[in-house]
Amino acid sequence: MNLIIFGPPGAGKGTQSKFIAENFNLFQLSTGEFLRKEIVDNTEIGKKISSIINSGSLVSDNIVSDLIEKIISNTKFNNRIIFDGYPRSLAQARNLDFLLKKYNQKINVVLKLSVSLETVKKRISERRALEKREDDNEEIAIKRYKTYEKSTEPVIEYYKKMNLLKVIDGERTIDQINKEISDIIALI
Ligand code: AP5
Ligand code: MG
Repeated sequence: MNLIIFGPPGAGKGTQSKFIAENFNLFQLSTGEFLRKEIVDNTEIGKKISSIINSGSLVSDNIVSDLIEKIISNTKFNNRIIFDGYPRSLAQARNLDFLLKKYNQKINVVLKLSVSLETVKKRISERRALEKREDDNEEIAIKRYKTYEKSTEPVIEYYKKMNLLKVIDGERTIDQINKEISDIIALI
């Protein structure tokens, strides 16, 4: 089973992905976490992307696609990936379809966590106090939310048409959301 977890910044994609990965023996592929690691390791990619991430825009499709292909092509993760933060545009959604086909896999379900901008601001300011993520100040968080609305939301229609979309109320407690997601996965 491969699944996509989708939603604005601070929606709980990472929180829920970790939980699903542990409970269902899946691999969490968070493009944001992979990219942040490149920055921390000060790699060539890291140097190119740090200003982009800290402006709240999207990193170029090529960089992210290479990263995604490395995981999809690895037989260790065959049919057990949670895509956390990918795809983020229609071009990425089409590219993901292409790569999955190439490696003979598919997406089983797309989970969309719905939360308001007010909740996003609150959660991100709370997390900033704990994790010190550079892109977590309120101004950049609002930019990330706008990037989400402009580039990423259109992808929802794409998966809706494919009959893969499940919308989840992300305003509830972590446990309540966990439970709903587990119930959905159990039916796959
Ligand atoms: P990314 O790291 O994916 O950031 P994001 O989408 O902005 O999402 P976050 O990680 O901030 O939030 P989350 O939904 O994971 O929430 P979390 O579980 O942490 O991307 C960062 C950047 O990388 C992008 O801006 C872009 O530049 C680049 N990038 C990444 N992917 C890319 C791609 N495909 N293409 C191009 N560029 C890309 O929860 C947030 C907080 O809330 C936590 O403190 C958590 O404990 C708390 N919380 C979670 N759920 C609940 C709940 N139900 N109730 C109360 N608190 C909760
Ligand atoms: Mg995250």
